[in-house]
Amino acid sequence: MTSPVKIGVGLLGVMLVGFVCALVFFFWPHGLPKVSASASQPRGAELIARGKYLTTAADCEACHTAPGGQPFVGGLGFELPFGTLFSPNITPDDQTGIGTWTDAEFVRAVRTGVGKHGEDLYPAFPYTSYALLTTDDILAIKAYLDTLAPVARRPPENELLFPFNQRYVMRGWKLLFVPSAPYKPDESKSVAWNIGAYLVEALAHCGECHTPRGLMFQRKQGSALSGGSLEGWTAWNITPDVKTGIGSWSDEQIKSYIWKGFAPQRGPAAGAMRQAIDLSLSHLPESDIDSIVTYLRSVKPETSSYPSTAIVTDPTPASASEPWMPVDGPSGLGRKIFAGSCASCHGWDGSGQNSPRAALAGSHSVTDETGKNLVQVILSGSSDSTGTAASAMPGFARALSDTEVAALANYVIGHFGAKRGTVTPNDVEKAR
Ligand code: HEC
Ligand code: HEC
Ligand code: HEC
Repeated sequence: MTSPVKIGVGLLGVMLVGFVCALVFFFWPHGLPKVSASASQPRGAELIARGKYLTTAADCEACHTAPGGQPFVGGLGFELPFGTLFSPNITPDDQTGIGTWTDAEFVRAVRTGVGKHGEDLYPAFPYTSYALLTTDDILAIKAYLDTLAPVARRPPENELLFPFNQRYVMRGWKLLFVPSAPYKPDESKSVAWNIGAYLVEALAHCGECHTPRGLMFQRKQGSALSGGSLEGWTAWNITPDVKTGIGSWSDEQIKSYIWKGFAPQRGPAAGAMRQAIDLSLSHLPESDIDSIVTYLRSVKPETSSYPSTAIVTDPTPASASEPWMPVDGPSGLGRKIFAGSCASCHGWDGSGQNSPRAALAGSHSVTDETGKNLVQVILSGSSDSTGTAASAMPGFARALSDTEVAALANYVIGHFGAKRGTVTPNDVEKAR
């Protein structure tokens, strides 16, 4: 877990490296190399369809849409330790969007994080992954975005503190941490493996959330996909490590989770993962999902940077319970709240009453001693984008106090995870 102090030190590192490299780079203008599609790039309707598929797989919409706003119009706020950054409008509006951008400018932005006027973009825009996209694919994305209705709307002004509002601070960082060449297929591997690698590493940018970050906010590629954190959530270890990763999951479970949003005996997806599934992964063809599974199976198994999260396969209190009747001992506040607010949907045995997605048994969230995702879900609830009541959970932020949420979370971790939860009222206050 990254403590605020560490982030502080990390930012200092970014600043220092940034300033040093800025000296070197300051008079070195970003070139704008000519770009053109290869002979194999499709044309016309086929190109637009390809662009739409790529835009979906890259989930551009997730970040370029404000809550309740029109897709791709931007305005979503990113809370950084040094202020708030807003995503820009990427509809083809001439004044407020990317209507006047040339192909070369667009490719440069997506691959190297440089804006239209040569300004450096913050890596909240995951060009660290998109740098691996082929030129053809980036141009196809632009061709698709160009077909959207232009919407004239400017996002709010960024509120970033000096010196982080000096964009050139990013230059040194980018030099160190952005891949310099697009993805090269590995001829020794199958076609499916290569499609999976391209999806995981470049398009669907799984590592932006699932790879731990170092002091300078860089992804630690040495332990890629072994678990990261974002916005108060833990993005679990998805390497084939058996104890702390998804090594013990079946192919079918992985497939169901990333495509449908839940997996039998592994629980549902919530938070940013639920959104990635709703907007992006659930729209991909089955063959792509199979390719992702093939690739994930092949990456280096790594022990999680969150050691507390090892799954307990037989959490006795829950597995000995009946759906409507718990067997376990400790009475108290947490158990009382679970009985009143949770058991009717989830069941005391975690089998789920109202929807297969309400099956909590085996979910990582309820076996993690720190209860991070559990607390987030209790506070905010969870639903897919259809928002149908049958498959949704309401948030309890207003109904329950910090002390109640902490007691409930620790009870849930004890009952479903057979572990001692360590959630304090203070943790809950911070998560609100
Ligand atoms: C994880 C969030 C995220 C995703 C996913 C994302 N973006 Fe962005 N994007 C941002 C943010 C934040 C900025 C603003 C960065 C800045 O101001 O420094 C940005 C900036 C941009 C810009 C520069 C626009 C300008 O006016 O300067 C373009 C172009 C862009 N994104 C296109 C895309 C495309 C195309 C995709 C999908 C392939 C995509 N983005 C996916 C967050 C995201
Ligand atoms: C925007 C951030 C984000 C992106 C991108 C993302 N994930 Fe996740 N992922 C999460 C979070 C957060 C969770 C935890 C969700 C929960 O506990 O309900 C998660 C959970 C998972 C899990 C469940 C693991 C477990 O032990 O329960 C799998 C599998 C997974 N993600 C695979 C992927 C794959 C494959 C990709 C890319 C195709 C991906 N994720 C992209 C944030 C992300
Ligand atoms: C109205 C039914 C309902 C109630 C009441 C309810 N839940 Fe849920 N819960 C669900 C559903 C459905 C999901 C799956 C949501 C999704 O797929 O987005 C879920 C998801 C979860 C998850 C996410 C698991 C994961 O792996 O990310 C946790 C944890 C959870 N609920 C705990 C609780 C607790 C604790 C309470 C009591 C405060 C509670 N729920 C009350 C229906 C409910």
